[in-house]
Amino acid sequence: MCGIVGSVSTKTNVIPILLDGLKTLEYRGYDSAGLAYIKDGNLIINKVKGRVKDLENHISKESNSNIGIAHTRWATHGKVNETNAHPHNVGKITIVHNGIIENFSKLKHKLEEKGYEFKSESDTEIAAGLLDYYYKKYENIDKAIQKFMKKVDGSYAICMLINDNPNTIYVIKKDSPLIIGKGNNENYIASDVPAILKYTKNYYILEDYEYGKITNNNITIYDKEGNILKKELKEYQGSDLTSDKGIYEHYMLKEIIEQQTTIRKTVNPYINNIKDLLKLPDLTKYERIDIIACGTAMHAGLTAKYLFEQYSNTKCEVFLASEYRYQNNFLNNNVLSIFISQSGETADTLAALKKVKEEKYDTLGIVNVKESSIARALDKVLYTEAGTEIAVASTKAYTSQVALLSVLALSLAYRKKLIKEEKINKILEEFRSITQILTPILEDTITYENIAKEIYEKSDIFYIGRTIDYALAMEGSLKLKEISYIHSEAYAAGELKHGTISLITKDTPVFASATNKYINAKTISNLKEVIARGAKCYLITDEDIKEDNIKVIKIKKVSMFIKPLLTIIPYQLIAYYTAKLKGCDIDKPRNLAKSVTVE
Ligand code: M6R
Repeated sequence: MCGIVGSVSTKTNVIPILLDGLKTLEYRGYDSAGLAYIKDGNLIINKVKGRVKDLENHISKESNSNIGIAHTRWATHGKVNETNAHPHNVGKITIVHNGIIENFSKLKHKLEEKGYEFKSESDTEIAAGLLDYYYKKYENIDKAIQKFMKKVDGSYAICMLINDNPNTIYVIKKDSPLIIGKGNNENYIASDVPAILKYTKNYYILEDYEYGKITNNNITIYDKEGNILKKELKEYQGSDLTSDKGIYEHYMLKEIIEQQTTIRKTVNPYINNIKDLLKLPDLTKYERIDIIACGTAMHAGLTAKYLFEQYSNTKCEVFLASEYRYQNNFLNNNVLSIFISQSGETADTLAALKKVKEEKYDTLGIVNVKESSIARALDKVLYTEAGTEIAVASTKAYTSQVALLSVLALSLAYRKKLIKEEKINKILEEFRSITQILTPILEDTITYENIAKEIYEKSDIFYIGRTIDYALAMEGSLKLKEISYIHSEAYAAGELKHGTISLITKDTPVFASATNKYINAKTISNLKEVIARGAKCYLITDEDIKEDNIKVIKIKKVSMFIKPLLTIIPYQLIAYYTAKLKGCDIDKPRNLAKSVTVE
């Protein structure tokens, strides 16, 4: 989604720093880019519809400035065009903005009554107008920012230049991440740490309703009343800062292959012997576990639901964060709310977390990006060790989430003495061998390529399964549609005949997994029902199933705690090869963003 970079320096030309930062944020998804800088007292703005590369080509080679702000826009208010791209200038104020100004329409009318005219459809231009109005009214930037925070509803990370003060960048933050990097006679602003890591590892995190003033040698941060705050200077601890594609054609493929190591790395502290499971939080006091997340992270929660309920005898509900935040969740002290997020910045998940925190109930999180907004807001966080995930389609983060949730469920079952120690030791041994177990599945490229050839021209594809296999069907279907743009739906296998089976016609591809021995036969029956109507079926299973008209992808027989990690890989790779055959932009699918920081 939108990205922000800013820099102010003593003598360095900051324009390459801004472009470099924007390039680092490119993988998050955007549709236009722009930057503003001040040179000899003059404000210069460049914007383009398209890529950062286009912006770079658009900027004059002689451009040189010690202060500037830059942005990649993922359209929310208004079409994808140059006018709606950031920065937006109104009067003396120029801003780039991440987030959404919810009451922008009302504010726009008020500003128009006062004589303001706007050129774009963007809510950001209204924010710039409001800041200009208050700045002129109070002749004091602190008062203007404080008033702005009182009047604006919604989320904002704002980076601002003021014509009157060409040596300072101003920042304002609520519900959208923003950090200030501290350098040597040079300071930086960014929506995400990686954008400035080439220049500094030291940074301050802005919290909601804080604002700041940044010059080349000074950073001052204020609370909403204008009191100066003493903030902790953080040092970035993450690894894997530089992520290139290596020998792979796409990040997605690289990240799928990396699952051989990322799963092991994530669970490593908990699997060397049975007592290691006790390092995980003790959940025995909870009568119910709620899992809240979005997209693929929510699907990871759905696989865990099965494990918590079946093996740890604990009720588990899974919610989409975007729904959870607006409903009655019947919380009490016996409920643990678990939040899952790769980026740690997903707006809906963060808002849902804040809701639980406000009511003072217990929270636990599974997060990949260290020090992210969600990680910071949680009572307790368990980190996945997936490393930087660049492809928009989540793969290695998903399996790390599933693996961590699996050991958490196993730890709970162990504490409750619901599984024999001998069985647990066997499961731990399988976790320790995960790299070897995954290798043959990852290497079966020919199978996946052949299936891709059979399906890539289809317009509708179905994924079915029961219990844990239904959760996997949902993830398989999402992977396919987000990168190949083929319409696909996931159904509980038994539900198809209650309506959707009418869509099955000759050669409609239907994928299923059958990895739960107690109900596999039922899933096979459902496949037969669709075969009878002409469907072409593909089945991932660990059983010796041979059926006419079903192409079987066999996986190793392992414990249910490990199995989803194997089952999902054919789904990921079939999606990948299908999108490749269709010539899709696999790592940056249309309309999608890696980190969804708006509601
Ligand atoms: O960063 P998060 O895990 O919070 O993101 C949640 C979803 O936006 C994300 O999983 C999305 O569904 C992926 N693009 C799916 O591949």
